[in-house]
Amino acid sequence: MNIGILGLGTVGGGVVNVLAKNQTEIKRRTNTQIQVTHAAVRDINQSRICSTAGIQLTQDPSEIVNNNSIDIVLELMGGTGLAKELVETAIKNGKHVITANKALIATHGNELLALAKANNTHLLFEAAVAGGIPILKSLEQGLSANQIEMVAGIINGTGNFILTEMRDKGRDFDSVLKEAQELGYAEADPTFDVEGIDAAHKLAILAAIAFGCELQFNKVSTEGISEISGEDVAFATELGYSIKHLGIAKKVKGEIQMRVHPTLIPKTRLLANVDGVMNAVLVKGNAVGPTLYYGAGAGDEATASAVIADLIDVIKGTVSNDVLGWKSFEAIPYQNHNDIESIFYLRLLATDKPGVLADITAIFANHNISVEAVVQKQIDEQDNAHIAIITNQVKTGDIQVAVTEIQSHDFIQEEIKIIHVETLD
Ligand code: NAP
Ligand code: HSE
Repeated sequence: MNIGILGLGTVGGGVVNVLAKNQTEIKRRTNTQIQVTHAAVRDINQSRICSTAGIQLTQDPSEIVNNNSIDIVLELMGGTGLAKELVETAIKNGKHVITANKALIATHGNELLALAKANNTHLLFEAAVAGGIPILKSLEQGLSANQIEMVAGIINGTGNFILTEMRDKGRDFDSVLKEAQELGYAEADPTFDVEGIDAAHKLAILAAIAFGCELQFNKVSTEGISEISGEDVAFATELGYSIKHLGIAKKVKGEIQMRVHPTLIPKTRLLANVDGVMNAVLVKGNAVGPTLYYGAGAGDEATASAVIADLIDVIKGTVSNDVLGWKSFEAIPYQNHNDIESIFYLRLLATDKPGVLADITAIFANHNISVEAVVQKQIDEQDNAHIAIITNQVKTGDIQVAVTEIQSHDFIQEEIKIIHVETLD
């Protein structure tokens, strides 16, 4: 079986290394001799994390997708422009394609999967979501008896690594991000990691597989981690929560919601204790109940593990090209963002004068919002009170209206911070 790889960086290099170190086991499982015969790179002279002995390197990736001797193409270069053209050509040339590229699948997966199906080839992408965790196979295979009610996960390793280092070591955002880049965790454009775009790509894929619907990346409401302050982390800790960057997809009353945002999770939840580059995905099925999947969310060999699992599936013929239940996906409506119900954490900086808290709670009462918990820190040198409030479960639209009203009062000294709270019950 001849393999051509587009991209021999973190993931591509990891694939070559894992194929070499586990060759006996992989041969036993597939009864096939797998050889990486060709690889495309940008710079042929650059040093690699893997040996390139026996691999013909090229700077022209079209040589790989048009090479008749190659059976399977691994797209591990990233991006949605050239990568899409190459994947299309490979499929049209009858090759199976395996990719780790969530941006490509989330934005062009519907058409690429249809193309693969029309050409009777496989397009697989386990490594695109949650690195080494076999979450797509778990949804498609192990949980296939269930109606999936919710998928909620820490699905960006870089973001979780940054939040953990900031909380545990008091490090600053930029230096941790730099380290994540050096470790090969971050995307080519790291704003994809910190602004939640990468997690949104992954969530769109998870939701499509969980609910059997089309990929709709543009329906994911997305918020990154760059606005989380040390004060939020301290308040969350005092209130018994951890702040995690979650991707959440739920089916509520026949409608789907998909959202990526910082989230306060009770410290007692397993997800609240997933730290560093690790990812974890909580899946609730209507038969099995809650299940949790944990593992490395990024990195060379962890991601290679998922790529090679797809490769083994293709070689063994244990996949269908109907990977998303594609034939029968439903047109499921998406919930209006304002109708999404959630508990909220609010952080306010208010002038210290009598009646302020009463005014704030009166506005909440007018909008049918209950206050579940309040913490006020000592008055600062500017005579301002630092206040954190946890609400009951309310509609997103209602909290926004109430917060706008509170914000309009002159006792409020800065923009009110709003963060979702999830109990994950
Ligand atoms: P990377 O380290 O930057 O590697 C990209 C590779 O593609 C490099 O070898 C580069 O060549 C090659 N390349 C880029 N543009 C090319 C072009 N126009 N022609 C030929 N070769 C080209 O990236 P990565 O971290 O491995 O990520 C690859 C993909 O996997 C992305 O879609 C990413 O989102 C996904 N992914 C990454 C991880 C992770 O932990 N890193 C995990 C899951 C999924 P040079 O080496 O010569 O520059
Ligand atoms: N940049 C991604 C992350 C790579 O940090 O999770 C794995 O998909």
